[in-house]
Amino acid sequence: MVLWVGDGLKNFIFLFLLYSLHVIARVHTIMPPAAMLCHDHERSVLLHFKQSPSLNESASYDSSAYSKTESWKARGENGTDCCSWHGVECDEKTGYIIGLHLNSAYLYGTLGSNIFTLVHLQTLNLADNNFRRSTIPHEISHLSSLSRLDLSFSVFSGPIPTELSKLFKLTYLDLSENDFSGIFPVDIFHLPHMLVLDVGDNENLTGVLPEFNRTSSFKELRLSFTNFSGNLPISVGNLQSLTKLKLGACNFSGSIPTSIANLTQLTHL
Ligand SMILES: *[C@@H]1O[C@H](CO)[C@@H](O)[C@H](O)[C@H]1NC(C)=O
Ligand SMILES: *[C@@H]1O[C@H](CO)[C@@H](O)[C@H](O)[C@H]1NC(C)=O
Ligand SMILES: *[C@@H]1O[C@H](CO)[C@@H](O)[C@H](O)[C@H]1NC(C)=O
Ligand SMILES: *[C@@H]1O[C@H](CO)[C@@H](O)[C@H](O)[C@H]1NC(C)=O
Ligand SMILES: *[C@@H]1O[C@H](CO)[C@@H](O)[C@H](O)[C@H]1NC(C)=O
Ligand SMILES: *[C@@H]1O[C@H](CO)[C@@H](O)[C@H](O)[C@H]1NC(C)=O
Ligand SMILES: *[C@@H]1O[C@H](CO)[C@@H](O)[C@H](O)[C@H]1NC(C)=O
Repeated sequence: MVLWVGDGLKNFIFLFLLYSLHVIARVHTIMPPAAMLCHDHERSVLLHFKQSPSLNESASYDSSAYSKTESWKARGENGTDCCSWHGVECDEKTGYIIGLHLNSAYLYGTLGSNIFTLVHLQTLNLADNNFRRSTIPHEISHLSSLSRLDLSFSVFSGPIPTELSKLFKLTYLDLSENDFSGIFPVDIFHLPHMLVLDVGDNENLTGVLPEFNRTSSFKELRLSFTNFSGNLPISVGNLQSLTKLKLGACNFSGSIPTSIANLTQLTHL
């Protein structure tokens, strides 16, 4: 009898401990960890990326910036959280990388496609590096969450891939000061949330303006020093939010539509 009570008590204590552990475990999974750790596969993409374009201090014009990927190397090999690396921005809840701010990072070499496996990216800034006349890889189409893309002044060349016109969340696209050529994909003008588009200073980039809808949200449009040609459409007057329109040193012809006078927000023409 005494033994039976003892066993019962033991069982009770055992079950109580088990239940407590269960509660502790649950609380742990519900409470966010103090610092979000980056995901292993995204971390290895970054480590691979710092190997591929090499570092070269003459690759960036802004020499005040120090090498961001060099700091990745030092930190990465020590197994720290890549969300804390310079230029890397993670989502606080999911730990996925949502921003890469690698402008003026002394990157010198071909841009491979492995960076485009970071499919949660919302911001990609690679401005002011030297990608040695790389083309934009078609894999850019994997970045369907991308809102801001800055590849300006970074020695890119070749055609602008039509895949960019399928990135429906784009609001800001800067491809200026490169050597892009071929025909600019006109569907990029139709992206529903586009606010700023700059493809200026690509002297061999050819293109025409589309018909613009009143739903168009453009605030800034810069095509200067390109080979854009044809007429300025009357529908340019539908760009009611436009503040800057820069079309200098292009190959446009015809008359200037009077509808431009309807652009009441314009401060720069
Ligand atoms: C560094 O970049 C410059 C041009 O920006 C190039 O001439 C030079 O060869 C590069 N050095 C190395 C080691 O790649
Ligand atoms: C990485 O680890 C090495 C060896 O323990 C150490 O010397 C170095 O300072 C560490 N670097 C960083 C950035 O923590
Ligand atoms: C533009 O094309 C011309 C003729 O093909 C070429 O000589 C020139 O270097 C090109 N410009 C750029 C910036 O690539
Ligand atoms: C204008 O709207 C029509 C129909 O809604 C659409 O098919 C077209 O692509 C739009 N054009 C632009 C420039 O947004
Ligand atoms: C500029 O565009 C015209 C078409 O409007 C084309 O015939 C010409 O080859 C283009 N020039 C360059 C340098 O791409
Ligand atoms: C402008 O376009 C015409 C044809 O429309 C072309 O012959 C000429 O080469 C172009 N100018 C430049 C600077 O590309
Ligand atoms: C300017 O806008 C008004 C009102 O939306 C419109 O009636 C008019 O036709 C437009 N003028 C031009 C030249 O597009």
